[in-house]
Amino acid sequence: MSESPATLSLEPIGYIRTGKQVKFQALHQPSEQQPERNVLELVPGHNYEQALRDLAGFSRVWLIWWFHRNTTWRPQVIPPRGPAQRRGVFATRSPHRPNPLGLTPVQLIAIEGRRLILGECDLVEGTPVFDLKPYVPAYDSFPDARAGWIEEVDALTRQAPQFKVHYAPTATAQAEWLVAHWQIDFRARLEELLARDPTPHRTRRIRRRSADQLEIGCGAWRAFFRVEGFDVTVTALDAGFPLRFLRDPQRVGLPDCAAQVAFLAVWPEAPRAV
Ligand SMILES: C[S@@+](CC[C@H](N)C(=O)[O-])C[C@H]1O[C@@H](n2cnc3c(N)ncnc32)[C@H](O)[C@@H]1O
Repeated sequence: MSESPATLSLEPIGYIRTGKQVKFQALHQPSEQQPERNVLELVPGHNYEQALRDLAGFSRVWLIWWFHRNTTWRPQVIPPRGPAQRRGVFATRSPHRPNPLGLTPVQLIAIEGRRLILGECDLVEGTPVFDLKPYVPAYDSFPDARAGWIEEVDALTRQAPQFKVHYAPTATAQAEWLVAHWQIDFRARLEELLARDPTPHRTRRIRRRSADQLEIGCGAWRAFFRVEGFDVTVTALDAGFPLRFLRDPQRVGLPDCAAQVAFLAVWPEAPRAV
C-alpha cells in the first residue's frame, strides 16, 4: 500500500483578472447584486481548451484557489461579522488557514477560448486558481443545513438596527476627487461595514482614536468617522500610509501608491487633524 504523502505540489491552472488590487475591495462572499465581470485566464500549453468542453452548459462553477497574499494562519480568528469573538478557523471562511485554499461559487457567463468570463467574485487581482468544477444544485445545495454560529450572528444582526451612514462635506469632496482622478471608490464597502456595526473591531480594522472619533482601514486608505445614536458620519478620508513610506524606494508595490501621494498633496494636514 502506498503511503499518504506529507506534502503535495499543485500548479495553478490559471489566474483571475478582477482589477481589484487590495483585499478590502473584494467582497467577503460574492454578491449577485453587483453586475460585475471578471476573467479567469487559463495557462496556455496544457490542453485546457479541451478540458473546458461541456462546461458552457453550467451557469455556475466552483473556483478552488489560493489566498496567495497571506503568509500566516491562526487556529482561532475573529471573523468580520458579529461581535469581536474568536472562532476556530475551520468554523469560518477566514483567508488565514493552514492551507490557504479558497472556495467560491461564481456565475459562468461565457467561455472564450482559454478565458472564462465570470460574474462577481471575492478574489483579488492575480489570484492563482487550482481547479474548476461545475456547480450542481442537486449535489451542492442544502438550503436546510444548519449554519452554526453564523445563523446566531445573522439572527442578532437582523434584530439590530442598521446604522445610517452620512458623509461630511470634506469626506464627500475627497471621495469624489478619488473617483474623478483615480477611479478609486470604496464607499459601498465602507458603508456596508459601518451600517452593520461601527464599533471597534480588529478584523474590521475599526479603532477608536479619541472619545468621539473612530477610524476604519479601507484597504490602502482609511476613513475617520463619529457615531451619534444610529447615525454614522464619515468626517474625512485619508491615505493609509505616511508620505515617508510612500516615497521610500525600499517599499515598492504599496497599493494605490501614486494616488496616495497625490491625495496627500491636496489634503496634507486636515484629515489627520480632524
Ligand atoms: C472571507 S474570504 C472567503 C473566500 C471564499 N469564499 C471561501 O470561503 O473560501 C474572501 C476575502 O479574501 C480576501 N482575498 C481575496 N483574494 C485573496 C488572495 N489572493 N489572497 C489573500 N486574500 C484574498 C478578500 O479580502 C476577500 O474579501
